[in-house]
Amino acid sequence: MDNRPVRRRRTGAVRHLLLAAAFLACSSQLLAVDANSWWSLALTPIQRPEMYIIGAQPLCSQLSGLSQGQRKLCQLYQDHMIYIGDGAKTGIKECQYQFRQRRWNCSTVDNTSVFGRVMQIGSRETAFTYAVSAAGVVNAISRACREGELSTCGCSRAARPRDLPRDWLWGGCGDNVHYGYRFAREFVDAREREKNYPRGSPEHARTLMNLQNNEAGRQAVYNLANVACKCHGVSGSCSLKTCWLQLADFRRVGEFLKEKYDSAAAMRIGRKGKLELVDKRFNTPTPEDLVYIDPSPDYCLRNETTGSLGTQGRLCNKTSEGMDGCELMCCGRGYDQFKTYKHERCHCKFHWCCYVKCKRCTTLVDQFVCK
Ligand SMILES: *[C@@H]1O[C@H](CO)[C@@H](O)[C@H](O)[C@H]1NC(C)=O
Ligand SMILES: *[C@@H]1O[C@H](CO)[C@@H](O)[C@H](O)[C@H]1NC(C)=O
Ligand SMILES: *[C@@H]1O[C@H](CO)[C@@H](O)[C@H](O)[C@H]1NC(C)=O
Ligand SMILES: *[C@@H]1O[C@H](CO)[C@@H](O)[C@H](O)[C@H]1NC(C)=O
Repeated sequence: MDNRPVRRRRTGAVRHLLLAAAFLACSSQLLAVDANSWWSLALTPIQRPEMYIIGAQPLCSQLSGLSQGQRKLCQLYQDHMIYIGDGAKTGIKECQYQFRQRRWNCSTVDNTSVFGRVMQIGSRETAFTYAVSAAGVVNAISRACREGELSTCGCSRAARPRDLPRDWLWGGCGDNVHYGYRFAREFVDAREREKNYPRGSPEHARTLMNLQNNEAGRQAVYNLANVACKCHGVSGSCSLKTCWLQLADFRRVGEFLKEKYDSAAAMRIGRKGKLELVDKRFNTPTPEDLVYIDPSPDYCLRNETTGSLGTQGRLCNKTSEGMDGCELMCCGRGYDQFKTYKHERCHCKFHWCCYVKCKRCTTLVDQFVCK
């Protein structure tokens, strides 16, 4: 679908005609791609703004994938862009790690659409992708603040936690998750907020889904940030401690969101134009939860229309009964067996003092690849 904001609400017959025309346009081109996303910042090398000033090239007009509102934010916060790119990259890498043994492995397709057309389906996988990339941005911006890389923020100014022991000092320079969260909300959601789809339409449902998942991603980083401390005092006596707020390792965020993926809630658009549970017996999702509106494709076969890459040529595990097992991974098509050499460090010996010396061993191992 085209995602330019509809500028005016039109009424009555005209609107219906337009909707019908839009529908026809959609179905003829079946799923014209929402290709230009800020995710592409992950794949474009972004130079520091100073470089652009020297070269007199406007940074923001050069970056592809930004929506109108994001372009404005880019102009106001040029020094943030490199970190948004880094954040998106971190998110994508984590997504690929978490899904490395699944049929859909979060691979990026090209440098314009990043994840390809599968993101047009409002599936669980799409939900995860939005969340983890929003999380990546909070992470990157929060850290950049702490490191003094941004002109509009610095160390965290979070209040001293109540349960911190009284003789510990609070106030090392912490990751500024508060700022990271707020900036990511402005930037990442801008794209969704610009849209003005008719209330209750499928596109509106998708917008609500994206907003919910973006928020879940941001909250994961925010809520997992924790207190870190360092000891001072004579010879490691730790009589004095200084503590500050520190981001969790991003792997933890990835694992947390993967759990949210497993428990994601199926939603549909309700009569009041809000998302509601398909099955009312489940708990209403909180802002920390992931939601989806479409069932997932099976990702088994390559399909140009849905953007699924298929699992042909993927490695699988012959003995596993999980998703990485050949049976499930190859969708029952069977697999080919290869022998390959695996190189490893082995027979490691500790030498006095102080290094470890290893040999390189080569073993012949079986590998299985989906037909
Ligand atoms: C990425 O896009 C640029 C132009 O926008 C193009 O020249 C390049 O070949 C693309 N790279 C890939 C890997 O698709
Ligand atoms: C691709 O997916 C679409 C939508 O699910 C389906 O209608 C179509 O038959 C698929 N095409 C192929 C070649 O499998
Ligand atoms: C994911 O799977 C595709 C299609 O099978 C493959 O081409 C790609 O290399 C894989 N990507 C990663 C990151 O493992
Ligand atoms: C394959 O799966 C089995 C059972 O889950 C596991 O023990 C084994 O380590 C896996 N092998 C590889 C190469 O990942």
